[in-house]
Amino acid sequence: MFEKGAGGMRLIILGIPGAGKGTQADRISQRLGIPHISTGDIFRQNINQGTELGKIAKEYMDNGKLVPDDVTIGIVANRIEEKDCKDGFIFDGFPRTIPQAEALAKKLTDMGLNIDTVLNIELADEKVLERMTGRRVCNKCKATYHIKYNPPKMEGVCDLCRDSLVQRNDDKEETVLKRIEVYHMQTEPLISFYKERNLLREVEGKGEVDSVTRKIFEVLEVEI
Ligand code: AP5
Repeated sequence: MFEKGAGGMRLIILGIPGAGKGTQADRISQRLGIPHISTGDIFRQNINQGTELGKIAKEYMDNGKLVPDDVTIGIVANRIEEKDCKDGFIFDGFPRTIPQAEALAKKLTDMGLNIDTVLNIELADEKVLERMTGRRVCNKCKATYHIKYNPPKMEGVCDLCRDSLVQRNDDKEETVLKRIEVYHMQTEPLISFYKERNLLREVEGKGEVDSVTRKIFEVLEVEI
């Protein structure tokens, strides 16, 4: 049984856009006290700040395409060297291609570390659009809501930090459809990649948010 503070846990969450990776990663992060590293959030933060990285990322993200591997790998390699990652971390949205997974494995080996578990949250393509179009994200703390399935206590206001909730730029129907296509082509092969390495655990992503969390904690052998 994993207990907070009992040592590191390094996790990857895989899944189609909208599977609930960010929602569940937040909960795992809070429960285990390890950072939630979302490459999507890092890119969005850079876009908001108008950095060079943000300018590069925006062009790809607005079209539903992946940001180039060399850019993404460099960011993650630096991020996991930060102090708060010493007791573990959860990757959400990384790796997303085989070259990213290979680069991560090499980086962790160089650091004398490894991935403990890869959770694949399964969700049918048909469910994705409804989840994306109803998604609202906090402008400030990045907490994620859904107007129907996971509504904030007060409409348009974040429960946690009271900032306003906004819709993501890439949650337009046309962009979501492109992201689903890109997922099947470039990210789905990671399921076999991690299965072959005996790291993959499957979790059904439909059903209520709390019930998905319970299933994940069962797989991780963590008490809620
Ligand atoms: P990223 O931000 O990673 O987006 P994504 O993978 O497409 O995933 P999402 O954040 O859209 O969905 P999610 O699975 O986290 O679901 P969520 O919990 O929000 O990436 C965005 C872009 O950045 C990419 O397209 C790419 O351009 C770029 N990028 C990022 N990483 C990259 C990388 N490694 N390499 C290259 N490019 C990269 O849930 C969705 C909605 O459903 C929410 O409203 C939520 O409240 C609701 N919900 C969650 N669970 C449930 C449930 N059980 N029942 C009902 N509703 C639920």
